[in-house]
Amino acid sequence: PLPSRVRIVEVGPRDGLQNEPVTVPTAVKVELIERLLAAGLTHIEIGSFVSARWVPQMADTAAVMARLPPNPAGRYAVLVPNLKGFAAAKEAGAGEVAVFASASEAFSRANINCSIAESLERFQPVAEAARAAGIPLRGYVSCVLGCPYEGMVAPQAVANVASRLVGMGCYEVSLGDTIGAGTPDSARACVATVAETIPRERIALHVHDTRGQALANIRACLELGVSVVDAAVAGLGGCPYAAGAPGNVATEAVVAELDRLGIATGIDPDRLAEAGRFITGALGRAPA
Ligand code: HMG
Ligand code: MG
Repeated sequence: PLPSRVRIVEVGPRDGLQNEPVTVPTAVKVELIERLLAAGLTHIEIGSFVSARWVPQMADTAAVMARLPPNPAGRYAVLVPNLKGFAAAKEAGAGEVAVFASASEAFSRANINCSIAESLERFQPVAEAARAAGIPLRGYVSCVLGCPYEGMVAPQAVANVASRLVGMGCYEVSLGDTIGAGTPDSARACVATVAETIPRERIALHVHDTRGQALANIRACLELGVSVVDAAVAGLGGCPYAAGAPGNVATEAVVAELDRLGIATGIDPDRLAEAGRFITGALGRAPA
């Protein structure tokens, strides 16, 4: 049985723009987020507090946050890799923070310069600080259906990291097919294994669309009871530490597919398309 409603987490301003060769001006980011809000997206990942040497495109996240309108129906989320990032997020008034781990050791090293175990140790004080500040904490696991360095990733490796993240206080864990290597079968196998260790309601799906399998993978996971899907307007994105990672699945495509399946999202497709045209125009590229 498919869910009757799906919550879409819009990650374009972060996962999309972090991978653009040019740094998008703060004013353009702010206008994009305003347009996403107007389209009915409530949960929007607007940036990250990471090293500007590693990801220069996100260096203005505090400035973006400061210029955003209130978001009473949802929240503005940011990625934080450590306590330093958390302190900056709190100072900026982030409505939610997300820590990001990997199911593969090589990707963990490439992305955050430490092992999986070290990353989880680093996230523990972030989780405690978030709890003390009353800021909701989300978790990511990357490379859940394949790693650009290691190839296959075992579902149990994903489940182990996901259960640690929930154990430290993440209200939700987003399973990332970082390089879009998944198929409906591998996505189902992964979610089924993860659901043995954490409640299904805490699982979100974050897919990239390398091989055109994203919508099929989402559908396979909806059938297993997943009802939260990450997507990026205009299919922006990729990951700077996963060469060849294509864009995230486009929010426009997810909304259209869910609508076709009779699943409510609360998003206005026309205004979403306008937001997509706005950002592709600003980036000088063809719309999705
Ligand atoms: P490091 O070099 O090992 O860290 O990087 P360090 O502690 O040695 O610090 C190095 C420098 O960074 C120092 O500055 C720190 O102060 C500074 P210096 O003294 O050299 O001037 N620094 C910071 N600056 C700002 N904010 C911070 C911060 N922390 C340290 N929070 C580190 C380790 C984690 C910082 C680095 O590797 C990093 O920033 N990585 C971020 C990578 C990233 O953002 N990747 C993209 C997001 S993940 C993704 O896209 C996947 C996802 O979408 C899911 C999916 O698709 O699967 C989520
Ligand atoms: Mg991603």
